[in-house]
Amino acid sequence: MTTSNVEHVDLRPELPPRTMELLRERNDDLRSRAVSGDGSQRQHALGKRTARERLDLLLDPGSFVEVDLFRRHQAHGLKVSDHRPHTDGVVAGSGTIEGRRVFVYAQDFTIFGGSLGQAHAAKIHKVMDMALATGAPIIGLNDSGGARIQEGVMALDGYGGIFRRQVEASGVIPQISVVLGPCAGGAAYSPALADFTFIVRGTGQMYLTGPDVVAAVNGERVTHEELGGAAVHSGLSGVASFVHDDEESCLADVRYLISLLPSNNMEPPPAYEPCGATEDIRPAFASLVPVEPNKPYDIRDLIAELVDDGEFLEVHEGWAANVVCAFGRVDGGVVGVVGNQPMVLAGVLDIEASQKAARFVRFCDAFGIPLVSLVDVPGFLPGTDQEHHGVIRHGAKLLYAYCEATVPRIQVIVRKAYGGAYIVMDSRSIGTDLSLAWPTNEIAVMGAEGAVNVIFRKELAASADPVELRSELLAEYSEQLVHPYYAAERGLVDDVIDPSHTRAAVARGLSMLHNKRRHPTARKHGNVPL
Ligand code: HXC
Repeated sequence: MTTSNVEHVDLRPELPPRTMELLRERNDDLRSRAVSGDGSQRQHALGKRTARERLDLLLDPGSFVEVDLFRRHQAHGLKVSDHRPHTDGVVAGSGTIEGRRVFVYAQDFTIFGGSLGQAHAAKIHKVMDMALATGAPIIGLNDSGGARIQEGVMALDGYGGIFRRQVEASGVIPQISVVLGPCAGGAAYSPALADFTFIVRGTGQMYLTGPDVVAAVNGERVTHEELGGAAVHSGLSGVASFVHDDEESCLADVRYLISLLPSNNMEPPPAYEPCGATEDIRPAFASLVPVEPNKPYDIRDLIAELVDDGEFLEVHEGWAANVVCAFGRVDGGVVGVVGNQPMVLAGVLDIEASQKAARFVRFCDAFGIPLVSLVDVPGFLPGTDQEHHGVIRHGAKLLYAYCEATVPRIQVIVRKAYGGAYIVMDSRSIGTDLSLAWPTNEIAVMGAEGAVNVIFRKELAASADPVELRSELLAEYSEQLVHPYYAAERGLVDDVIDPSHTRAAVARGLSMLHNKRRHPTARKHGNVPL
């Protein structure tokens, strides 16, 4: 062993002085660069706001708590190794809306087109997990080119993780998806799995395969907007529940919707001060509905008269408009209203109306929101088109949804309630708690004309004066069967009310049913017709 005479020299490079002040400066610098991004101009030029501007509009001022600001991708190759922006194209965290906690993520189109890679997905998974663990709604603001192509199967895996979490959270916390830019490929399944999807005209688009693929596969030439813009999804496909002209009004309505929903399935919906609705007699009701059974009127006028301050939020306004589904309040408590709309297709139920109302009823039931059904329905829409496209299967969805619902349920039969459609629209037989009918009410297997033709076909054929006989039989049938007292005498209608008492009677009914507790039969899950 030798001992050196050489004096020890420290060959390590000299490190910068390590002071708290310098470390904080570096952190501030990194943070402000991560937050500022550099693509806001391009985003504004497209008529869109940045992810952070959107969160500012959505959340209460100063309430946003961000997670994973510094997260960035660990991918290699294909133009990404040397470009690793912080956030990885999604701003995620939590904030409040009118003081109530929500979890959020907002995709940032200025970073890799908002495309979803492994880190981006992991951030979304993280806030979804926190939302479910704490029982708070999750809101996703989508603006993305879809799966990040450079990250291959890891991007697809990231989407799968979102979908699995959405299904796990379904019926536990409200899930809202807002489409503010492209939402391409399988990414569109996230809005489809959400409880409510908002879309903005002109900028929001959803499709599984873009215009180029469509052109290549079947030669069809379409624009992004024609293929999957707001008009398509709010009016034809039914994927979007709400459509808006701009981001401000869209995000304001997300706030409004949240104010009507409970935070999770264990909490009651937000309750506001009762406003005397149980004594509120409204003569206007009677003038809103013509007594002639075939005259149209707007059921939304009736809903406005029923709910507090005439205010309600209609879901799927532009799709399947022959049924109206809306949230509102009665005496301070939130209700879900389902109403046949005589102004559109005479208010018949058809495939799309059944799908729309069924999903709404199931949402209300999952989140403890009482249901009020305003019935004025001539039946199901007849015809080969409906039959061949499965009106039986789709109508069964609404039937199933009502039968399964354990929330307080009130049926108000305003005018017509014929046949299977009467049963489906929350009749006593499928479990409504309180059935109220107006004196204008006609509940029967079918209308007088059809009924007389079936029962008295032979008599009419043999008659010397069939016109006279028909008119006598019509009068007899109507007298015996086409009025609410036939049902009321048999307990299928609990009361025949003066129309002006509708709001008061519904408010009293809701108060009576407030503590309703019914637990579904134990089973893994039912087999809802899909
Ligand atoms: C990586 C992407 C990207 C993607 C866009 N970018 N989409 N990067 N992966 N999926 C990048 C672009 O390269 C570009 O980067 C920037 O984002 C902006 O994109 P532009 O094309 O310039 O913008 P624009 O003209 O507005 O068009 C937007 C667009 C288009 C319509 C979304 O980018 C597009 O068609 N992208 C591909 C969409 C797609 O097919 N995605 C995969 C779907 S399959 P630079 O550096 O030039 O600014 C899928 C599977 C999911 O998502 C499966 C889940 C089950």
